[in-house]
Amino acid sequence: MQKARIYVANWKMNMHLDSGLQFANDCKALMNDNENTEKQGSPFSQNGAKKHIILCPTFPAIYPIAQLLQNVPISIGAQNCSEHEIGAYTGEVSAQSLSEIGCSYCIIGHSERRKYFHETNEVIARKVVKLFASTINPIICIGETAQDHKDNKTLEVLEHQLNPIIKAINEAEQFPETVIFAYEPVWAIGTGKTPNNETLHATFNWLAAHLTRNIKNIKVIYLLYGGSVDEHTALEMVKVQNIDGFLIGGASLDFQKFKNIVSLA
Ligand code: 13P
Repeated sequence: MQKARIYVANWKMNMHLDSGLQFANDCKALMNDNENTEKQGSPFSQNGAKKHIILCPTFPAIYPIAQLLQNVPISIGAQNCSEHEIGAYTGEVSAQSLSEIGCSYCIIGHSERRKYFHETNEVIARKVVKLFASTINPIICIGETAQDHKDNKTLEVLEHQLNPIIKAINEAEQFPETVIFAYEPVWAIGTGKTPNNETLHATFNWLAAHLTRNIKNIKVIYLLYGGSVDEHTALEMVKVQNIDGFLIGGASLDFQKFKNIVSLA
């Protein structure tokens, strides 16, 4: 099976409803314009590679954007969900509620959530299970800090972050056909710095081997790179074996930049 290339726009706490809707409308037009747009529900295809866009707005913008993009082959994702199923958890949003309003993906374990909201690998593992049960595909973020990177501890950190998550995936009663991991070095997020292709090659080879060896129930694993992705860095990094797409922050706030990444890389 040829994998689609995946482009995830993580808008973080940016974009108000009107700008989010405008961006979604521009994406819709892009899909309509693309001569290679395939039948409804498929990612569009360009130069033989299928491309799949996933927009991740803030919670309040999810439903209106999902409505706007009904029947358009663009998916909607959330940026977080609760580790609980239902109940007295003021301010939390459950995986089931996200599914009901049109989400088919959800970013979890982003380093900003780990840093500012103290999310642990165990919490993230519980979120994976809740998402699976609501038929939402998690986009699971992992990545080392600048200090870990300096200390040459990248793979050690990734393995530690992945351990409880892999265990939860293997023990889940319900699980999807594919799962997405996003490697985002914390030191590369919003800094303009990126690992070189040689380093990326080693990290992604390790990730692909480690996840394939240890995840028993899901056969198709997508690996994304995130951290200072723009049209220039993406064009270089797309050459790296085992990078199946990108998780894009800053450059996903500007439609032209996002479009360039999707079209070129
Ligand atoms: P930047 O693309 O702005 O570096 O952000 C990356 C990110 O955190 C995506 O989740």
